[in-house]
Amino acid sequence: MVDPTADTLEAVATAVRDCLRCDLCKTRNHAVPGEGNPQTEVLFIGEAPGLNEDRSGRPFVGAAGQFLDELLASVQLKRSDCFITNVVKCRPPNNRDPEPTEIAACASYLDRQIALLNPKLIVTLGRFSMAKFFPGETISRIHGKLRMINGRLVLPMYHPAAALHQNSLRATILEDFKQVPLALAAARQQAAPPPSPAPASAEAPKLEQKTLFDL
Ligand code: URA
Ligand code: SF4
Repeated sequence: MVDPTADTLEAVATAVRDCLRCDLCKTRNHAVPGEGNPQTEVLFIGEAPGLNEDRSGRPFVGAAGQFLDELLASVQLKRSDCFITNVVKCRPPNNRDPEPTEIAACASYLDRQIALLNPKLIVTLGRFSMAKFFPGETISRIHGKLRMINGRLVLPMYHPAAALHQNSLRATILEDFKQVPLALAAARQQAAPPPSPAPASAEAPKLEQKTLFDL
């Protein structure tokens, strides 16, 4: 039986498109709720829509999105396998940083999306989505280090747009992205009945502090 009172991704998207909770609603053309596979195992969280996203209403469709597609392809993932959204759903004027008040006003939409998708892995792209899970941390210190936060794996990464401004970050981001399939494999193994014996894996994910057995 479908519960008619149950929250849905469509309900979140509709609420975002109609949202007037912060001043970004005054300058947006299209709110960008996020999109992807509702059955996804991995959720990518960026910063905020830019020019192209504001025009189209879709996440990561500009140059940063092209690099994100490249990153996904590098680990044999497609956009249609994933769900992609942002901390703030409307474009800040001139792509300025989102304000703390805007992030706070928008947070419940992201929280609902996380609850509905219940992904095995969250990948944060850039410092604003990192700060949601790792307050007080700096991205240069923790990028590429997988951690367990409230029972879920979270991988903080540099924003793909950073590589467009600073070419030396491309290789770092590509290297960090290799943690994505490793983390998913670890999460699947944890969800599955106990393996006997544990398969020898070539490379273990670089999980900070905890070992695979604490997952
Ligand atoms: N950068 C982001 O953080 N999000 C987008 O959707 C596009 C660019
Ligand atoms: Fe609403 Fe978020 Fe858009 Fe602000 S940024 S108007 S809180 S959807």
